[in-house]
Amino acid sequence: MQKLLIKGKKELFGTISISGSKNATLPILAASILSNNGVKLANVPMVKDIFTMLELLKFIGIKIRIKKKQKVIELKNNNKKINTLAPYKLVKTMRAGVLVLGALLTKYKKAKVSLPGGCAIGTRPVDLHLFALKKLGAKIKIKDGYIIAEAKKGLVGSKIKFPSISVGATENALLAAFGAKGKTVLLNCAVEPEISDLISFLKKLGGKIIISGRKITIIGKNFGTKKTYHKIIFDRIEAGTYLIAGALIGKKLVLNKIDTKIIKSEIDTLKKMGVNITNNKNSLSILKTKKLKKINITTKPYPGFPTDLQAQLMVLMTQAQGISKIKENIFENRYMHVPELRRMGAKIEIKNKTAYIFGASRLTGAEVMATDLRASVSLVLAGLIADNRTMVNRIYHLDRGYEFLEKKLQTCKAEIKRI
Ligand code: UD1
Repeated sequence: MQKLLIKGKKELFGTISISGSKNATLPILAASILSNNGVKLANVPMVKDIFTMLELLKFIGIKIRIKKKQKVIELKNNNKKINTLAPYKLVKTMRAGVLVLGALLTKYKKAKVSLPGGCAIGTRPVDLHLFALKKLGAKIKIKDGYIIAEAKKGLVGSKIKFPSISVGATENALLAAFGAKGKTVLLNCAVEPEISDLISFLKKLGGKIIISGRKITIIGKNFGTKKTYHKIIFDRIEAGTYLIAGALIGKKLVLNKIDTKIIKSEIDTLKKMGVNITNNKNSLSILKTKKLKKINITTKPYPGFPTDLQAQLMVLMTQAQGISKIKENIFENRYMHVPELRRMGAKIEIKNKTAYIFGASRLTGAEVMATDLRASVSLVLAGLIADNRTMVNRIYHLDRGYEFLEKKLQTCKAEIKRI
């Protein structure tokens, strides 16, 4: 099994180009089912989760061409040999597989999709996805671990108010509403930038969609007949991760290929901690800060501070003076990095949903492992500032979502290698 070996305390100096967003690409790939013509996607991050989704689409019957070097994926749905099934083996490793449900159901009037089940960070149900599809007229039953959905006469537009905000449920509802008859109004939606990117893709497919605050109106459409080209937005979580790396140990770390407006809450949070950031619209430069200030944050749906950066920010908080607090409001079990950070010397206590981080602590290298993507990368960040060597195990989690992680860091003079 591969591991990452990091020799800490090497200052980061150089430029990192931020990749395309994994979490934007996944629903857009599912949306390609809705097209009756060719789809070409650019700026696709070549990471494991994307390949898993492509495998699922191939199984369904979509023709796929991958141009790895150009970061381009071409997809074509010839509608002939369509399999409206998403099997367990392809959904279990990647929850986003459930996003094919809305697209298959609206286009082919039926779908059988494996329940994704729980994962390390929480139970992660799909009740909100099913709630929306039922409102659009789907008949749904759960049998043998599968969601079996049907809409014999097709889905019909409706007004749907989500009882709580969910990224995946908003995406599934959008895909389903795209092919539904008439108008759908979705209320209390997630409005993450990845959802805006999905909407701009659906508009290119020919959909009429209006977004106003947390309200999204979709006028149903008879499947995309236009050839569609779309460039995926940058990965704001990858950008936030390197932003924190720069704050921890940047001599001068520059991030480019980003839109700084989209990561305003992250930039503001770090600035409040005293981090030296120069903002130039499509790039940022960050310097390590000697005296970091404590801060309290709560993870929230966009535009709030993202749960996907909670673990990384916690590492920065270990270097701030005083007691910082994080309240994790999105997932119930997202502190698995804490025992590992403690083993590296961090002083962190957890009470209910809140983590108290007592800084500043000197971190020392250790052999560590994590059980999810963002927790794993927080250990890499800790390794970059720790004394001696840190060995991060189970890096297949990192490979699910970070493109060329060690290469990008090596370019900026980090001592990190895969063994
Ligand atoms: C997406 C992101 C993930 C991010 C999360 C929150 C992708 C592929 N993944 O995950 O990286 O951490 O948004 O920003 O884009 N919930 C329900 N019922 C449902 C659906 C969700 O109770 O049917 C709950 C979840 O358990 C969680 C909360 O709602 O507590 C938010 O989850 P959601 O926004 O749906 O996250 P994902 O779409 O799974």
